[in-house]
Amino acid sequence: MTTGDISKRKAAEAAIAEVTNGMLVGLGTGSTAAFAISGLGRRIAEEGLRIKAAGTSLATETAARAVGIPFLAFDDLASVDLCIDGADEIDPLFRAIKGGGGAMLREKVVASAATRMICIVDASKPVETLARPLPIEVLPFARSYVAGAVRSLGGEPIVRPGPSDQDNLLMDCDFGPIADPACLARALDAVPGLLGHGLFLSEIDALYIGDRSGVERRERHQKP
Ligand code: 5RP
Repeated sequence: MTTGDISKRKAAEAAIAEVTNGMLVGLGTGSTAAFAISGLGRRIAEEGLRIKAAGTSLATETAARAVGIPFLAFDDLASVDLCIDGADEIDPLFRAIKGGGGAMLREKVVASAATRMICIVDASKPVETLARPLPIEVLPFARSYVAGAVRSLGGEPIVRPGPSDQDNLLMDCDFGPIADPACLARALDAVPGLLGHGLFLSEIDALYIGDRSGVERRERHQKP
Protein backbone atom coordinates (compact mmCIF):
# COMPACT_ATOMS: atom_id res chain seq x y z
CA MET A 1 0.00 0.00 0.00
CA THR A 2 1.30 3.51 -0.84
CA THR A 3 1.79 6.19 1.82
CA GLY A 4 -1.25 7.96 0.38
CA ASP A 5 -3.38 4.84 0.74
CA ILE A 6 -2.21 4.28 4.32
CA SER A 7 -3.16 7.88 5.12
CA LYS A 8 -6.54 7.56 3.42
CA ARG A 9 -7.26 4.35 5.31
CA LYS A 10 -6.34 5.96 8.64
CA ALA A 11 -8.73 8.86 8.00
CA ALA A 12 -11.49 6.47 6.92
CA GLU A 13 -11.04 4.16 9.92
CA ALA A 14 -11.19 7.12 12.32
CA ALA A 15 -14.34 8.46 10.65
CA ILE A 16 -16.25 5.19 10.75
CA ALA A 17 -15.86 5.15 14.53
CA GLU A 18 -18.65 7.79 14.44
CA VAL A 19 -21.03 5.22 12.94
CA THR A 20 -23.35 3.64 15.52
CA ASN A 21 -26.18 1.10 15.53
CA GLY A 22 -29.33 2.16 13.71
CA MET A 23 -27.71 4.82 11.56
CA LEU A 24 -28.54 5.40 7.93
CA VAL A 25 -25.19 6.24 6.34
CA GLY A 26 -24.53 8.01 3.05
CA LEU A 27 -21.48 6.47 1.42
CA GLY A 28 -19.19 8.59 -0.75
CA THR A 29 -17.23 7.71 -3.86
CA GLY A 30 -13.49 7.33 -4.48
CA SER A 31 -10.50 5.54 -3.02
CA THR A 32 -10.78 7.12 0.46
CA ALA A 33 -14.50 6.41 0.70
CA ALA A 34 -13.73 2.84 -0.40
CA PHE A 35 -11.68 2.37 2.79
CA ALA A 36 -14.68 3.57 4.82
CA ILE A 37 -16.93 1.10 2.98
CA SER A 38 -14.62 -1.85 3.61
CA GLY A 39 -14.18 -0.78 7.24
CA LEU A 40 -17.95 -0.66 7.75
CA GLY A 41 -18.27 -4.10 6.17
CA ARG A 42 -15.68 -5.37 8.65
CA ARG A 43 -17.53 -3.81 11.61
CA ILE A 44 -20.79 -5.42 10.45
CA ALA A 45 -19.10 -8.83 10.24
CA GLU A 46 -17.01 -8.58 13.42
CA GLU A 47 -19.12 -6.46 15.79
CA GLY A 48 -22.61 -7.04 14.41
CA LEU A 49 -22.94 -3.30 13.69
CA ARG A 50 -26.50 -2.68 12.50
CA ILE A 51 -26.70 0.05 9.86
CA LYS A 52 -28.23 0.72 6.50
CA ALA A 53 -26.60 2.73 3.76
CA ALA A 54 -27.22 4.57 0.52
CA GLY A 55 -24.56 5.47 -2.00
CA THR A 56 -23.36 8.28 -4.25
CA SER A 57 -22.42 6.20 -7.31
CA LEU A 58 -22.89 2.84 -8.98
CA ALA A 59 -19.30 1.90 -7.98
CA THR A 60 -20.09 2.64 -4.34
CA GLU A 61 -23.27 0.56 -4.45
CA THR A 62 -21.31 -2.39 -5.86
CA ALA A 63 -18.58 -2.03 -3.22
CA ALA A 64 -21.07 -1.71 -0.35
CA ARG A 65 -23.11 -4.73 -1.39
CA ALA A 66 -19.87 -6.75 -1.84
CA VAL A 67 -18.94 -6.27 1.83
CA GLY A 68 -22.45 -6.98 3.14
CA ILE A 69 -23.69 -3.45 3.91
CA PRO A 70 -27.53 -3.40 3.72
CA PHE A 71 -28.11 -0.99 0.86
CA LEU A 72 -31.12 1.24 0.11
CA ALA A 73 -31.97 3.20 -3.03
CA PHE A 74 -31.41 6.86 -2.21
CA ASP A 75 -34.43 7.97 -4.26
CA ASP A 76 -36.65 6.51 -1.52
CA LEU A 77 -34.90 8.57 1.19
CA ALA A 78 -35.33 12.17 2.29
CA SER A 79 -32.35 12.23 4.64
CA VAL A 80 -29.42 10.25 6.03
CA ASP A 81 -27.86 10.48 9.47
CA LEU A 82 -24.25 10.67 8.45
CA CYS A 83 -22.41 11.07 5.15
CA ILE A 84 -18.76 10.03 4.81
CA ASP A 85 -16.95 11.09 1.66
CA GLY A 86 -13.57 12.16 0.33
CA ALA A 87 -12.47 15.35 -1.42
CA ASP A 88 -9.92 16.47 -3.99
CA GLU A 89 -9.02 19.72 -2.23
CA ILE A 90 -10.25 21.36 0.96
CA ASP A 91 -9.42 24.81 2.31
CA PRO A 92 -9.22 26.07 5.92
CA LEU A 93 -12.91 27.16 5.77
CA PHE A 94 -14.01 23.58 4.94
CA ARG A 95 -14.76 24.55 1.34
CA ALA A 96 -13.92 21.67 -0.97
CA ILE A 97 -13.56 20.65 -4.57
CA LYS A 98 -15.03 17.21 -5.18
CA GLY A 99 -15.80 15.17 -8.26
CA GLY A 100 -12.45 13.66 -9.19
CA GLY A 101 -14.43 10.44 -9.47
CA GLY A 102 -17.18 12.19 -11.40
CA ALA A 103 -19.83 11.61 -8.74
CA MET A 104 -20.27 15.16 -7.40
CA LEU A 105 -23.89 15.55 -8.51
CA ARG A 106 -25.10 12.63 -6.37
CA GLU A 107 -22.48 13.39 -3.72
CA LYS A 108 -23.88 16.88 -3.18
CA VAL A 109 -27.43 15.57 -2.89
CA VAL A 110 -26.44 12.98 -0.27
CA ALA A 111 -24.18 15.42 1.61
CA SER A 112 -26.99 17.99 1.69
CA ALA A 113 -29.44 15.37 2.94
CA ALA A 114 -27.10 14.37 5.77
CA THR A 115 -27.51 15.52 9.35
CA ARG A 116 -23.72 15.38 9.55
CA MET A 117 -21.14 15.25 6.77
CA ILE A 118 -17.62 14.02 7.44
CA CYS A 119 -14.89 14.58 4.88
CA ILE A 120 -11.99 12.12 4.89
CA VAL A 121 -8.71 12.96 3.17
CA ASP A 122 -5.01 12.26 3.16
CA ALA A 123 -2.55 15.03 3.93
CA SER A 124 -2.16 16.00 0.25
CA LYS A 125 -5.71 17.39 0.06
CA PRO A 126 -5.78 20.41 2.43
CA VAL A 127 -4.83 23.61 0.57
CA GLU A 128 -4.87 27.33 1.31
CA THR A 129 -6.75 28.17 -1.90
CA LEU A 130 -8.89 25.87 -4.06
CA ALA A 131 -7.18 25.65 -7.43
CA ARG A 132 -7.53 22.28 -9.12
CA PRO A 133 -9.75 21.98 -12.22
CA LEU A 134 -13.37 21.97 -11.12
CA PRO A 135 -15.51 19.02 -12.27
CA ILE A 136 -18.95 19.86 -13.66
CA GLU A 137 -21.76 17.65 -14.95
CA VAL A 138 -23.42 18.83 -18.15
CA LEU A 139 -26.56 17.89 -20.06
CA PRO A 140 -25.20 16.61 -23.42
CA PHE A 141 -27.72 18.79 -25.28
CA ALA A 142 -26.13 21.87 -23.66
CA ARG A 143 -22.48 20.84 -24.17
CA SER A 144 -21.31 23.77 -26.32
CA TYR A 145 -23.47 26.34 -24.55
CA VAL A 146 -22.15 25.33 -21.11
CA ALA A 147 -18.54 25.23 -22.35
CA GLY A 148 -19.00 28.81 -23.59
CA ALA A 149 -20.50 29.89 -20.27
CA VAL A 150 -17.56 28.37 -18.39
CA ARG A 151 -15.12 30.25 -20.64
CA SER A 152 -16.97 33.50 -20.05
CA LEU A 153 -16.46 32.92 -16.31
CA GLY A 154 -12.71 32.50 -16.84
CA GLY A 155 -12.52 28.70 -16.93
CA GLU A 156 -11.09 26.34 -19.52
CA PRO A 157 -13.25 23.21 -19.84
CA ILE A 158 -11.95 19.80 -20.90
CA VAL A 159 -14.49 17.05 -21.60
CA ARG A 160 -13.81 13.71 -19.89
CA PRO A 161 -13.94 10.59 -22.05
CA GLY A 162 -16.73 8.70 -20.28
CA PRO A 163 -20.28 9.62 -19.23
CA SER A 164 -21.46 10.17 -15.64
CA ASP A 165 -23.62 7.61 -13.84
CA GLN A 166 -26.58 9.62 -15.14
CA ASP A 167 -25.28 9.41 -18.73
CA ASN A 168 -24.36 13.09 -18.81
CA LEU A 169 -21.06 14.70 -19.78
CA LEU A 170 -18.32 15.46 -17.29
CA MET A 171 -15.95 18.40 -17.79
CA ASP A 172 -12.96 19.54 -15.77
CA CYS A 173 -12.80 23.33 -15.75
CA ASP A 174 -9.53 25.06 -14.97
CA PHE A 175 -10.22 28.40 -13.29
CA GLY A 176 -6.76 28.65 -11.71
CA PRO A 177 -6.79 29.62 -8.02
CA ILE A 178 -10.41 30.35 -7.09
CA ALA A 179 -10.36 33.64 -5.17
CA ASP A 180 -14.10 33.71 -4.42
CA PRO A 181 -15.58 30.18 -4.43
CA ALA A 182 -19.06 31.40 -3.39
CA CYS A 183 -19.21 33.85 -6.29
CA LEU A 184 -18.11 31.16 -8.76
CA ALA A 185 -20.60 28.64 -7.33
CA ARG A 186 -23.46 31.14 -7.71
CA ALA A 187 -22.47 31.85 -11.31
CA LEU A 188 -22.24 28.15 -12.18
CA ASP A 189 -25.55 27.38 -10.43
CA ALA A 190 -27.20 29.91 -12.75
CA VAL A 191 -26.09 28.26 -16.04
CA PRO A 192 -28.94 26.24 -17.64
CA GLY A 193 -27.76 22.78 -18.65
CA LEU A 194 -24.96 22.79 -16.07
CA LEU A 195 -26.41 20.15 -13.78
CA GLY A 196 -23.89 20.22 -10.96
CA HIS A 197 -20.39 21.23 -9.94
CA GLY A 198 -17.82 20.07 -7.45
CA LEU A 199 -17.69 23.14 -5.20
CA PHE A 200 -18.90 22.02 -1.76
CA LEU A 201 -18.98 25.19 0.28
CA SER A 202 -21.35 24.54 3.16
CA GLU A 203 -21.94 20.80 3.42
CA ILE A 204 -18.89 19.60 5.36
CA ASP A 205 -19.16 19.53 9.18
CA ALA A 206 -15.97 17.70 10.11
CA LEU A 207 -12.66 16.86 8.49
CA TYR A 208 -10.41 13.88 9.20
CA ILE A 209 -6.90 14.23 7.75
CA GLY A 210 -4.84 11.06 7.73
CA ASP A 211 -1.08 10.81 7.40
CA ARG A 212 1.54 8.18 8.13
CA SER A 213 1.57 8.90 11.85
CA GLY A 214 -2.11 9.35 12.64
CA VAL A 215 -5.26 11.37 12.07
CA GLU A 216 -6.05 15.01 12.73
CA ARG A 217 -9.72 15.77 13.32
CA ARG A 218 -11.13 19.25 12.71
CA GLU A 219 -14.69 20.32 13.46
CA ARG A 220 -16.46 23.14 11.65
CA HIS A 221 -17.99 25.37 14.29
CA GLN A 222 -19.85 27.83 12.09
CA LYS A 223 -21.80 27.08 8.95
CA PRO A 224 -21.80 29.89 6.35
C1 5RP B 1 -15.56 11.52 -6.29
C2 5RP B 1 -15.00 12.43 -5.27
C3 5RP B 1 -13.94 11.88 -4.39
O1 5RP B 1 -14.34 12.01 -3.06
C4 5RP B 1 -12.67 12.64 -4.62
O2 5RP B 1 -12.36 12.59 -6.00
C5 5RP B 1 -11.52 12.07 -3.79
O3 5RP B 1 -11.16 10.83 -4.31
P1 5RP B 1 -10.07 9.91 -3.62
O4 5RP B 1 -10.60 9.57 -2.26
O5 5RP B 1 -9.96 8.73 -4.54
O6 5RP B 1 -8.79 10.71 -3.53
O7 5RP B 1 -15.37 13.56 -5.14
O8 5RP B 1 -16.46 12.16 -7.15
